[in-house]
Amino acid sequence: MYLALDGNGPLHAQLTRALKGAILDGRYGEGARLPPSRALAAELGVSRNTVLTAYEQLRAEGFVSARIGSGSYVTPPLHATQVQRPTSTTLPPQSAFARRGRLVHDHGNLPGRAPEGARYCFQYGLPIVNPAVASMWARELARAAAYTSPNYPPTQGLPALREAIGDYLARRRGLVVDPADVVVVSGTQQAISLCLRVLADEGDHAVVEEPQYFAVRELLQLHGARISPVPTDVEGLRCDLLPERSPRLVFVTPSHQFPGGSVLSLARRMELFAYARRHDAWVVEDDYDGEFRYDGRPLAALRSLDRGDRVIYIGSFSKTVFPSLRLGYMVVPRALREDFVTAKWSLDFGSSAIEQAAMASFIASGGFERHLRRSTRILAERREVLMQGLRHYGRGRVRIADSRAGMHVAAWVEGHGAADVERLLAIGLRHGLGLHSILPHYHAPPDRCGLLFGFASLSVAELREALPLFGRCLEEFEREGPAPVAALARQHRGEHHARRQPRQVRGRIRQR
Ligand SMILES: Cc1ncc(COP(=O)(O)O)c(C=O)c1O
Repeated sequence: MYLALDGNGPLHAQLTRALKGAILDGRYGEGARLPPSRALAAELGVSRNTVLTAYEQLRAEGFVSARIGSGSYVTPPLHATQVQRPTSTTLPPQSAFARRGRLVHDHGNLPGRAPEGARYCFQYGLPIVNPAVASMWARELARAAAYTSPNYPPTQGLPALREAIGDYLARRRGLVVDPADVVVVSGTQQAISLCLRVLADEGDHAVVEEPQYFAVRELLQLHGARISPVPTDVEGLRCDLLPERSPRLVFVTPSHQFPGGSVLSLARRMELFAYARRHDAWVVEDDYDGEFRYDGRPLAALRSLDRGDRVIYIGSFSKTVFPSLRLGYMVVPRALREDFVTAKWSLDFGSSAIEQAAMASFIASGGFERHLRRSTRILAERREVLMQGLRHYGRGRVRIADSRAGMHVAAWVEGHGAADVERLLAIGLRHGLGLHSILPHYHAPPDRCGLLFGFASLSVAELREALPLFGRCLEEFEREGPAPVAALARQHRGEHHARRQPRQVRGRIRQR
């Protein structure tokens, strides 16, 4: 009998695990006699005591019974639990959510993550690294750990943090917030999940911007919602194209459309409210990076104009502090407050109290907003260097989408289709550049070559080194010419680059 020890922990525990595995796999069937301890010890090159300890453990757990003078035998009832390796057809049924997850979610290929081997990565969604904030945060955490109660925190969030968030939103986002309407969550991702739990049922319609944050689309797909993508332009969501069929929810990024970059104009904001009223729909405002504006003060949030209490406002510390924190907040309509708290309770009872206490103190001390002001200055500088570099090295072929906010810029390489994007990314990687396609953020990707440039995680010096490299990549890219028509057609049939682009296409087809 071949027994593989896994190398973890004491030898007798390794042997116990290996023998259990052999019994459960049926390699030692019901009633089979385990090898004599002396023989097994000699075979494995371990002491007899090790084998005896393992056998004793198996006896104590009921896997084998001992017959005096005769050895150890696999216990009869075990045959019922002996398992075949499960296959998808032998597994007991899973939920519709899990089944949809298998179709939609690709763990190994999440848009926006840094590719391995890139020296300069234009990763979007990563905030600037400020060592002063890291040490301030370490101090806040240590202090908070000392005075935070070890008991479960209030599900809705610590009162001190809800108050601090309310004050901050009033100062910076033009919102008048009662802290009683704030729910602390572990990031936008959880906030959107809560919106779906509270406001939508399977089969309900939801409007998303086209293009949209891919995670919103995926969450909607996982929940079994039907997606109506509505185009965006320089004024944000095309409200004149909102569907006649009433949606339950409209997801928008009004302060800085993700990923296109526009700001929802005042006229469109009013149109959106009128639409939501007419169709009895909720509006979900994802204010993920609206704090950072480069042509004046940040614009007030959409919810500040909401007179009907229809907007669920979502903010996150992912862009303003760092995403590993997993801390965000919602301002919810008064009538829904208990529903959201119940939904939050069902997920995790509440977010970590120590982090919440540390964040409350970071905001109340003024440290958070000092950090934001400093970040905005640094980001403005980096953005300027990026824009100049893209114009200079773009060889007249790169069209930059107008955007004066946030931490990323969308750009289109003219004369090339969607089939060329992966080739450009591969050329980038050969030159040490982490480039990112914009196309995963489309429900129906256009046949264009679009990139997203995050500028927060590269210093000015790094940007100055990276942009000439981008110019060289473009040169090489153009030299090779656009993808031949046959390759384009093949890719659109989903036969090429099976992990990236077609995944989006497959997701779209399934929903029709
Ligand atoms: C549009 C949008 N919303 C929200 C987030 C942040 O999500 P979270 O708060 O879950 O980190 C991101 C991050 O990339 C984003 O792009």
